[in-house]
Amino acid sequence: SEKKGGASKIECIHFGEFEIDTWYAAPYPEEYSRNKVLWICEFCLKYMNSEYVGWRHKMKCDAKHPPGDEVYRDGSISVFEIDGRKNPVYCQNLCLLAKLFLGSKTLYYDVEPFLFYVMTEFNECGMHFVGYFSKEKRSTSQNNVSCILTLPIHQRKGYGNLLIAFSYLLTRAEKKTGSPEKPFSDLGLVSYRNYWKLALCYELRDQKEPLTILDISRRTGMTPDDIICGLEALHALVRDPVTGTYALRLDYKAFQAHIDKWEAKGYVKLNVHALVWTPFL
Ligand code: COA
Ligand code: NA
Repeated sequence: SEKKGGASKIECIHFGEFEIDTWYAAPYPEEYSRNKVLWICEFCLKYMNSEYVGWRHKMKCDAKHPPGDEVYRDGSISVFEIDGRKNPVYCQNLCLLAKLFLGSKTLYYDVEPFLFYVMTEFNECGMHFVGYFSKEKRSTSQNNVSCILTLPIHQRKGYGNLLIAFSYLLTRAEKKTGSPEKPFSDLGLVSYRNYWKLALCYELRDQKEPLTILDISRRTGMTPDDIICGLEALHALVRDPVTGTYALRLDYKAFQAHIDKWEAKGYVKLNVHALVWTPFL
């Protein structure tokens, strides 16, 4: 059966030691889209037509991590910042890979205006690709994330949340606020809603002084719209039926319970001190 978005026949990719079923078509060059299986180098993201070519590549590819600068390291987790202008082939390959799991249109070849943040997990064989997000370099952009992906083999383990948390860490370092590019995919929406709620619980669980949405915005890097969305989901925004004004209802116990439930899952947490980065100029 043909996948949404094109006539590509690629049904699965070989990636490192994994075989991953694809979700959508991606515009790989025709001679690659003809096959049901694509071999992709897990380190340099080069795509290949056959197991033999993939094996030969593995013999000679020196890469054991993404290109670019390692801007974050905490335990086995690292994030690399890759400039689309300096590493166009890697970034194009990354966009093509991501498109296999994204229904909406995304860029593939015009990577120059973007930075790419690739999250890896280390073991004795190298720094393995877990997920990434892209971000426009244009400093006037209100979007702090363009595309975001966790490879399906690593989904539902908290890495998406970690990538989102990292994107807001960058935004705070830039002394800005930001919001992900719309439209959301279904998975993007549930993941962001989950993050926004959690971020607000952490921010408000000890809040004893009155504060405004703008205060929260400055502290979290989230936009007022996204804060309101999160507050509503937490039932923390109440409207006085008489005056029509809004107030925050801070249910500390509920916030803490929400955090406890999340932390009980044991997902990797962001370490804000592990960032070694200055804003892009
Ligand atoms: N179903 C229901 N809830 C989900 C979900 C799903 N498939 N994926 C994420 N969530 C919610 C859950 O609350 C989850 O916590 P839980 O797993 O403990 O229940 C929480 O979000 C955090 O999920 P997390 O494990 O951090 O996310 P992830 O690593 O799976 O990555 C995406 C999330 C969106 C990056 C990933 O689904 C993805 O790459 N999707 C394909 C590309 C895409 O759609 N990108 C977004 C474009 S806007
Ligand atoms: Na999970």
